Amino acid sequence: MNFWQDHSSHYLAMAFKTDNREILAKPDGYGKKTGDCGDTVEFYLSIQNDLIEYVSFQVQGCMNTTACANTVALLAKGKSIEDAWNITPEDVIDYLETLPEDHMHCAELTIGAFYLSLSSCQELNKKHRKEIHH
Ligand code: FES
Repeated sequence: MNFWQDHSSHYLAMAFKTDNREILAKPDGYGKKTGDCGDTVEFYLSIQNDLIEYVSFQVQGCMNTTACANTVALLAKGKSIEDAWNITPEDVIDYLETLPEDHMHCAELTIGAFYLSLSSCQELNKKHRKEIHH
C-alpha cells in the first residue's frame, strides 16, 4: 500500500491534525479508555450553553486512533450532549473512508472513550443541579 496515495484526504487530514491534542485543566467532561491492544484515548470536553464547544484529546497509540479521535472532535463540535451520543464508530469509519480493515477497533475504542466523557458531563450536570436545589 502506498500510504499517501491510498488514503483518503479525510484520513490524511485527521491523522496529522494536531490542534486538538490538548489536556484541559478543568474540562466539563472527561473520559479515558484503554483498549485490548494497549492503546489509550482520553477526551476532554468543554461545554457552553449545553453545546459541546471544544473537544480535545490525548492518544497513546497508533495513528489510526489519532485519526479517529480527530474525527470524533470534528463530528461532536457544536452538538448537544444528547446528539453527541448518536455518533457511532460507523460514522467515524465512514468519514475517514480508508481506516484499515484490521483497525476498525481503533474507532470503537475512540468512541468508547468519548462516551465516557459524555457520561461524565451528565454526572457533573446532575451534581450542579443538586447544589442549586439545596
Ligand atoms: Fe489499538 Fe489503534 S491499534 S486502538
